[in-house]
Order: sequence, then C-alpha cells, then structure tokens
Amino acid sequence: MEESIPAESFRNGTIFVTGSTGFLGKILTEKLLRSCSMKKIALLVRSKKRLNSSQRVADICNQSMFDRLRIEKPDFMTKIKIIDGDLEQPSLGLSPRDHDWLIENVNFVFHCAATIKFNETLPIALSINIQGTENLLELATKMNNLKGFVHVSTAYSHCPRSEINEQFYPVSISAKELKKLIKRDENTHNVSVDWPNTYTFTKALIENVISTNENKLPISIFRPSIIGCTKSEPEPGWVDNMNGVSGIISPLIVGILRTVQLSTDKISDIVPVDYTVNALISVMWDTVNRHRDGNKKNKEPKIYNYVSSVESSVHWEKIIQYTFETYHQVPPLESMWYIFCIFSANRWVVNILRFFLHRIPGALVDLSFIIRGENPKMLKIYKKIENMTDLLKDFTTCEWKFDNSNTRELWSSLSQEDRKTFWFSFEEFDWKSYIQCTVYGIRKHILHEDLSNTTRALSKNRKLFWLHLLCIFLIIYIVFQVYWMFMT
Ligand SMILES: NC(=O)c1ccc[n+]([C@@H]2O[C@H](COP(=O)([O-])OP(=O)(O)OC[C@H]3O[C@@H](n4cnc5c(N)ncnc54)[C@H](OP(=O)(O)O)[C@@H]3O)[C@@H](O)[C@H]2O)c1
Repeated sequence: MEESIPAESFRNGTIFVTGSTGFLGKILTEKLLRSCSMKKIALLVRSKKRLNSSQRVADICNQSMFDRLRIEKPDFMTKIKIIDGDLEQPSLGLSPRDHDWLIENVNFVFHCAATIKFNETLPIALSINIQGTENLLELATKMNNLKGFVHVSTAYSHCPRSEINEQFYPVSISAKELKKLIKRDENTHNVSVDWPNTYTFTKALIENVISTNENKLPISIFRPSIIGCTKSEPEPGWVDNMNGVSGIISPLIVGILRTVQLSTDKISDIVPVDYTVNALISVMWDTVNRHRDGNKKNKEPKIYNYVSSVESSVHWEKIIQYTFETYHQVPPLESMWYIFCIFSANRWVVNILRFFLHRIPGALVDLSFIIRGENPKMLKIYKKIENMTDLLKDFTTCEWKFDNSNTRELWSSLSQEDRKTFWFSFEEFDWKSYIQCTVYGIRKHILHEDLSNTTRALSKNRKLFWLHLLCIFLIIYIVFQVYWMFMT
C-alpha cells in the first residue's frame, strides 16, 4: 500500500521525540512506528525509579498498547534509539556521543515532554517547561538537517482570556525576567496571579520565547485541549492515567466521588489522544512544507489550536449522562457504592456536600477498618480525590471560545486517503460512543477489570442500589426524627 503524504514526509528521516514515556508520547511513538516509515526514531528518556532509560522503554514497549504494532511491524524495536537525557540538565544531560549523533541525524522534533502537574512549584515548572524547552531549542539550532520542530503546548496556555485564537498573546513578564525573580528568591505571586496554575503559566511564557524565533527554526506550536482516552487506535479506550476527564469518571463509577465542582451547562473540550497524535503528525507535515516552500511570512512560527468545541461542542451534562448510561450497562465489580453524585459550580455548596457525602461516610468506613485491625484509608483517598478535582475545577466550571482555523485548514488540505490514516476532525463526532469507550477503557486499563465479570458486577450493582436506597430512607427518617424531637 502506498504511504500517505504526512507519513511519506518521514521516509528515510530521523525523528526525535521528547516525552515518549508519557500519555501523549506513547501513542505518538506507537503511531509513528506503525504508520510511518523512518530511518530511526530517537526517544529522549531519563532514568526513573531505579530503572534506566533502556529498561523504561522496554517496559513500555511490552505494554498492551503496543500489541497491534507488534503484529503489524514485528521488527519495530530496531527503529528505536534510546537517548538518555533530562530536559532540566544543561545540554539535556546528553553524552557527547548522543549529542553529536542528534545534531548530525535528526530531521524532525516532536517536543511533548513537560510537567503537567497543575500544583507543581513554579521553580520546577520553570525548570522543565521553560528552561527544558530552551535547552532543546538550543540543541535544535545546532541540528544540521532539521526540517521541522513541533512544540506541544496547551489550548489553555492563555486561559485567563475567554477567547483564544491561534496567535501569540503578551504576558506581563518574560521567561528571562521570571528566571531572575526566582533566582533572587523574590515573590512571584503577582506575576502569575491571573493563571490558575504554574503549568499553564509556564506554557504561556515558553510560547512567547518561541514567538521571537530567534533561532530561526522551522517551528510550530500545537495546542490541544483536554486529552482523553483513544477513540480507536491502537485500540479504543486506552488510557493510562487519572489526569483530566478520567480523574472524574474513574472515582465516579466506583461510587467514591459523590460531589464535584462542575458546571453541567458549560462546554467540556475533550480531544481523544489518538486524534491528537494524528493532528500532531499532520502539523509536522505542514510545518516541513511551509518551511521548504514558503516565503518569509510562512516561516514565522504558526499555532494550531486542537479543540473539539468548534466543530462538535458537548456540555458536561451530556458527558455525565453518557457516563451514567454506560455505568448501568457495565458497572465495575470493584465499585464501592452505587453511582451517585451531586454536581455544583458553587464552591461552598460543594464544601458542605463533601462533609456529608465524603467525610462522614469516609470516617465510618475508616472506623470499620480500625475495628477489624486494619489501617484506615478512606479519608486519605477522599483527600486525594478532592485535591485532584479541585485542581480541575477551573476547567470544569469555565468554558472558552476557541478559534481553530489553522487546524481546520490543515484538515482540508489532507487527501481522502490521508484522512483515513490520520483522522483528526470532529465533524459529526459521536460523543456518546466516545464516552462509552472512555468508561470501558477506564474499567479495563485503570481498574484492570475485563468484561467477563459483567454478570457478577450487575448483580452486585443491584444490591448496592438497594443499599443506597435504604441509606437515603434511613437518613430522611433520622432527619425527621431529630426535627420532631426539637419541634415538640
Ligand atoms: N494530558 C493532557 O490533557 C494535555 C492537554 C494539553 C496539552 N498537553 C501537553 O501534551 C504534552 C504531553 O502531556 P502528557 O499528558 O503526555 O503528560 P505526561 O503523561 O505527564 O508525560 C510527560 C512526559 O514528559 C516527560 N518529562 C517530564 N519532565 C522531563 C524531564 N525533565 N526530562 C525529560 N522528560 C521529561 C515525562 O518523562 P518521565 O516519564 O520521565 O516523567 C513524560 O514522558 C505536554 O507538553 C502537555 O503540556 C497535555
């Protein structure tokens, strides 16, 4: 079969990927290896948790999400070159040999690595997302045969604005000035006060470093919104983390999350990770073409907002409705309680509800653990879940108006054949089936349950339902009794 145009652009080339051990990077690496021919794909990986970079890559390549690749391209490991390095180190901590190899061979750079922890301290977020990217840009300027560099940012880098176009926006401080403030240990609160977290703030600042393109690189910025599980490739529903929407749906379907700060009438902008990777590869293709053929204007860094809400907007209400519907078909066997959750945009309401729906039941469960001589853990779990959902609240209670003209233009430029291989459009996107896929995916990859237990899970769920109903009646009864006692 003849390769499509975006895939063809990598033929005989060397691709360098950062962040390949992360959620997006794994799917990107798998898709590049499966759908594109290249000479080598070099992965920048650091040692972690007593595993060196080679062991980490071997572990990842053994995961089930590489099963399809193993069948379609059994020799894919021969294409991978592991580069031991760390974005935070000067010159990425590369060995002189790797450094020379990279500058001699690399043609395409996908920069996905970042800290996406919303509550990261500013010095660490600065060190990875700003200094780390600068270190990589510096290396890229030395690359003799570089054709394209795509920096992965986020659609929310300028979230203090309600309308976000595909353009650079000024920030009150530059990356250089921020570094000076942090070095002098000065207060940085005022400079980032408009941003909800250090992640989006540092992403905004590094975009502005790229905007000047002092290094004259063939560079683009790719801004996805909230990345969710795969829609179809390499398998539907693949997810490996509790960031974003799976951080809400997972505790919801196991019956732990009973209240969360979320506006059901706001638009939720989610993009499947496989669609995101297809768009990212297409952006690389466009970047290479723009710089090969283009005039001066075409060589300016271009931004691509990758969002779903322009073509197929969906409100949180629908996401929740589809989650509940799927839950009733395949509840997890591990569920601790029947699904029940009150959504409110009001912080005070949520705080009061948390006391009654999380803390009191959590304390009772912990008491039962203590009586049985086990370690109490429920209140700790609630603390973790509440912290996690608190970090997401800015994105579950607000909505943005995005422009994605560049991304849509890119889509129109793909041939019918290319669209089949690199589908990323949201025209007529079926949210119901995607949320079904998400719930099935969470059940399989996060809760590690396969569908063979569905009958048992449904039977357990019926019991949980009656128990839940009984509790509601009991609470109503107690409230009335107390009311009666005080009124008579
Ligand atoms: N997830 C989303 O919803 C979302 C939405 C919009 C944009 N994005 C963007 O997409 C990109 C990938 O996000 P993700 O969800 O895949 O995040 P992720 O799962 O947390 O992965 C982050 C990756 O960056 C690597 N990394 C972090 N610090 C590093 C360092 N000092 N040196 C080398 N590598 C380092 C991590 O390596 P280790 O495994 O060694 O830690 C990991 O491979 C990010 O740029 C993010 O801003 C994500």
